[in-house]
Amino acid sequence: MLLHPSFDVNAAGHLTVAGFDACELAEQFGTPAYFLDEDAVRAQCRLYREAFRESFGGSSLPAYAGKALCCKKIYSVIAEEGLAADCVSPGELHTAYKAGFPMEKVFFHGNNKTDEDLRYALDLGVGHIVVDGWDELCALEKIAAEKDARPRILLRITPGIDPHTHKKIVTGSVDSKFGVAVATGQAFGFVRDALGCSHLVLDGFHCHVGSQIFDTEPFEDACDIMLAFIAKVRADFGFEAKILNLGGGFGVRYVEDDPEVDIRGNIARLGAEIDRMCALYGVEKPAVVMEPGRSIVAAAGCTLYTCGTVKSIPGFRNYVSVDGGMPDNPRYALYQSRYTIVNASRASAPADFPCTVAGRCCESGDLLSEDAVLAEPKRGDIIAVLVTGAYNYSMASNYNRIPRPPLVLLSKRGAEIAVRRETYEDLTALDL
Ligand code: LLP
Repeated sequence: MLLHPSFDVNAAGHLTVAGFDACELAEQFGTPAYFLDEDAVRAQCRLYREAFRESFGGSSLPAYAGKALCCKKIYSVIAEEGLAADCVSPGELHTAYKAGFPMEKVFFHGNNKTDEDLRYALDLGVGHIVVDGWDELCALEKIAAEKDARPRILLRITPGIDPHTHKKIVTGSVDSKFGVAVATGQAFGFVRDALGCSHLVLDGFHCHVGSQIFDTEPFEDACDIMLAFIAKVRADFGFEAKILNLGGGFGVRYVEDDPEVDIRGNIARLGAEIDRMCALYGVEKPAVVMEPGRSIVAAAGCTLYTCGTVKSIPGFRNYVSVDGGMPDNPRYALYQSRYTIVNASRASAPADFPCTVAGRCCESGDLLSEDAVLAEPKRGDIIAVLVTGAYNYSMASNYNRIPRPPLVLLSKRGAEIAVRRETYEDLTALDL
């Protein structure tokens, strides 16, 4: 096993992905291409569902955050596994709808939904709209009245937690484009006004502390703040929240020295904290929703590239250029994200060639890693970047008019294309 159960090395010395030989996959589907171990995705879904049943109980449910990886096939898998979904744009709603996803199990997010977006969500029968602020509350009340609809809503609340320092640094996270803050007192006014909307049915509250978080502490802090808030709202307005949505954010291991997150253990700790706080305040335990994205799909994915030019600059470094880069994975360029990169053609040979892995764009920042160590690559070798299941395909672009790679699902049924490779014709299809 290499980093995660989906990756291994076979007798030919090639990397395997979900048991498939990476070099054969590259041959069959071309490069660059994204591959996703569907069974590993399903296993994560089941892990979340079981942990929710054990620790949160009732009608609590994980909701897959489609921003991590969005296409029809993924929504079908998520629907089959019985999860709800978090959609953050009308495009994601549309994709879920086209996949036949049960729209009543969708939470519709976004800090700036247009009137058109809200109408579309109502037309599709979205289960909950997560209202981000007053303008949206008023717009939705008006649109619901026009349509004689009674949409269910959650209010997005900013609990004031900085997940990176694990401290409640109020000023830091109150200053956010998302939600309405508890610390300023505005969240109480937000609830009062939502309860005054005759066409909106308030079911509870949502918060999200951040992403790629390895500790449980920020989530426990969020539980404490949100349950204290729920208790005060009940005291002030007699409103009992039915749903507490804690957002997404559990971290994923990208490189050997990242820790492994114990999802079941984390959820058990949150369940215990919620029970403790509910008992403390004497409030009814709400149904708990969380919105994992990365931790459902990231570790099941990898991207295969073909090695092109290998350049050694004496006294400086080695550059290994691949046939993709920032258009299919902008995460190093954006966040200096670390990845495990493997020469899939020589996966059992010693990795002793330190290099910068570069993409093919006309941009010097188009890099995938500056500290890779590979078995020395030759032109034509297959290079694999592991753990690319989340925020790669969903963040891909056509920069330099490079067609987006296909997404191939790997399972016991075989290898199936979920999203086909873009063609040059696709690239000019919208040009008039
Ligand atoms: N729910 C809400 C309201 C969110 O804003 C997010 C992520 C999630 C759920 C899912 O969080 P996850 O479980 O995936 O951490 N592009 C960045 C990540 C941005 C995450 C934004 N919100 C990256 O590539 O790391």
